[in-house]
Amino acid sequence: MQQHQQGNHGWSVFHEGLSLAAADSRTHPGPDAGPDSASGSGPGELDRLLSAVWRARPRISDSHLITLLGIALRTVADTDTDAARVFRPQLPGAVRAGLLSAALARHHDAIAAMVTEQSNSYTGARRFLVPQLLLGAYAAHHRIAEVRLLDIGTSIGLLPRQLNNRTVYDRFAPGLSWHPAAPAYRDIPLAARFGIDAPPLPTLDWVRGCHGPSDYYTERFSEVVWALEQTAGTAGDIGIHALDMLDLPALADFVHSHHINVATCNFVLYQYDEPTRERIIATVTGALRRPGLLLSMEPGYELRRMGARVRGYRAGSTAPLHLADVSDAHFLGRVTPGADFAGIAGAVRSA
Ligand SMILES: C[S@@+](CC[C@H](N)C(=O)[O-])C[C@H]1O[C@@H](n2cnc3c(N)ncnc32)[C@H](O)[C@@H]1O
Repeated sequence: MQQHQQGNHGWSVFHEGLSLAAADSRTHPGPDAGPDSASGSGPGELDRLLSAVWRARPRISDSHLITLLGIALRTVADTDTDAARVFRPQLPGAVRAGLLSAALARHHDAIAAMVTEQSNSYTGARRFLVPQLLLGAYAAHHRIAEVRLLDIGTSIGLLPRQLNNRTVYDRFAPGLSWHPAAPAYRDIPLAARFGIDAPPLPTLDWVRGCHGPSDYYTERFSEVVWALEQTAGTAGDIGIHALDMLDLPALADFVHSHHINVATCNFVLYQYDEPTRERIIATVTGALRRPGLLLSMEPGYELRRMGARVRGYRAGSTAPLHLADVSDAHFLGRVTPGADFAGIAGAVRSA
């Protein structure tokens, strides 16, 4: 993740400090001596924190844990100038690593609480561009008169609000080109829109903290705020519920009892290990009304490189369909339809 092409967007300086602190933690374990420690002197601050997290969240993915640690650090840095120096690229890496370990020690309880009880809820105002065109084309291609939509891991519910908002679409669509050609814009025949996220439901303030410390992310966050204002009129039509999708019977019951035929689950599954991802997909596709679709956009390389992969799953099947690749997970760049695109959304003719 340190080598990520978008390292200048703010997080890679933290990733470098974390990697140096981890190496240091291995060679100079901290004062909390434990009899099981190889050196006999016990784990360092970072190890102490990671052990607590893995005990509480055994299914968390490494990439999510690393991003969440950065978000927690950024949050405590709002009121701690020494912790804020962890993000200053001008300081030598070894100094930042030391500041990081010290900040982890000073704020152990607060950081452990954030990392065990919350998730990265970053959301982007441009992410809905692909579901808008794909689901519009899917409904037209399969003659689906009513789409009852559930957005799983919705964060603050931006995507369900933005769908079919032509003003928001027209502002952001020019930043994303499709090759060889984009499907036509169509309104999705939305009959109901729901979103679920894990309790406690993320707030806009938490989402701000999930943005990187850089001008680039300040601009992305201002787009979120603008999109929320533009879609304020739809907010009342959307049911946002606190529901932990790891509670599989509750998830299946929600999908089933709300007659959901299209689910979206974007930038959520990567937060878990592979068996957990598979169980969520099987639960949702098993409960969707037919014909139905689960659309899932995830970072293509577990956050190590730019880009996102768009997959689809038909109701009743866990076989992944390759719908598209996106060059940049902030949806500024290029979309290339995948081998299964036409079967789901129909053929696209070049202009
Ligand atoms: C990175 S955000 C993505 C938000 C939104 N889907 C988007 O693409 O903009 C991931 C969201 O998934 C949610 N999430 C993670 N685990 C969850 C769970 N077990 N149940 C429900 N939501 C969960 C997180 O709380 C977070 O808000």
